Amino acid sequence: MATLAGSPNARKTSKVIVLGNEKGGTGKTTLAIHLLLGLQSKGVRVGAIDLDGRGAGFTKFLENRQNWAKNSKQNIYTPPFFTIVPSYNSTPAQREQDDFESFAHAVEKLEHVSDYLILDLPSGDAYLSRLAHSMADILITPLNDGFLDVSILGNVDADDSDTLNINPYGKYVLECLTRRKNLDGKGFDWLIVKNRVSSLGAKHKLKVDVVLKNIADHLGADITSNIGDRVIFKELFEMGLSVFDVLDKQTGVKATASHNEAKREIVELIKYIQK
Ligand SMILES: Nc1ncnc2c1ncn2[C@@H]1O[C@H](COP(=O)(O)OP(=O)(O)OP(=O)(O)O)[C@@H](O)[C@H]1O
Ligand SMILES: [Mg+2]
Repeated sequence: MATLAGSPNARKTSKVIVLGNEKGGTGKTTLAIHLLLGLQSKGVRVGAIDLDGRGAGFTKFLENRQNWAKNSKQNIYTPPFFTIVPSYNSTPAQREQDDFESFAHAVEKLEHVSDYLILDLPSGDAYLSRLAHSMADILITPLNDGFLDVSILGNVDADDSDTLNINPYGKYVLECLTRRKNLDGKGFDWLIVKNRVSSLGAKHKLKVDVVLKNIADHLGADITSNIGDRVIFKELFEMGLSVFDVLDKQTGVKATASHNEAKREIVELIKYIQK
């Protein structure tokens, strides 16, 4: 629903995928990048909006990609994108107005040329993040695999393991969902993705999984398939490439079993999105 503030009369245009988590460093930008190129490899049109204009990792990747395409003269897809740099205007109201206008402009430019819009959010609770959550069709929240990350959503009471506490970000998403349901009757799908999952510490992982499942059920979120800890994501960043590019031809990087596995994991995640 690429129409701001969830207007019930919205024309159905792009499907909006929001990568959101108040906690920093959980993989929002990494997943935004690879979902974008994974979706594009399936022949759908994808536009990108970097709402983390200060960190701007998504933007940097997409600029790297444009440069790589130009310098290598390879015909690789370079998606349309906008970067929203937060306003430095003097009052909060003016800053919000500026941010709203920048965001609305980006959506307006992309919504008719994109089947999907991928919105990469900053961590924290900024105005632009709230705006983006309010217009999601699919909210994807990556978490690293451990109680530290899970606790952004909720935790089990230390004295009574049957008592579940829902923490501010979990409550916040539920509020967004309720508001959206009141507006359009549908709300959005919430997908939780365990990211950077390694094969170590199986016993601890099982404990985390039980608590996470409990919290996700309570929040009405789905837990998707996992994404492993993959060095290839880091290696390809500088070239603006992904595992969906034909690696050996274009870069001299041979696609290893681990690269193929990374690709398979993103494809699995895309299946949840396209359900
Ligand atoms: N699946 C993965 N395998 C290996 N490294 C990863 C993976 N996911 C993320 N990383 C690395 O973890 C770090 C944080 O990832 P990323 O920047 O995507 O998180 P973020 O949630 O966007 O952070 P921020 O909140 O600061 O915007 C980066 O160094 C990134 O390369
Ligand atoms: Mg980021």
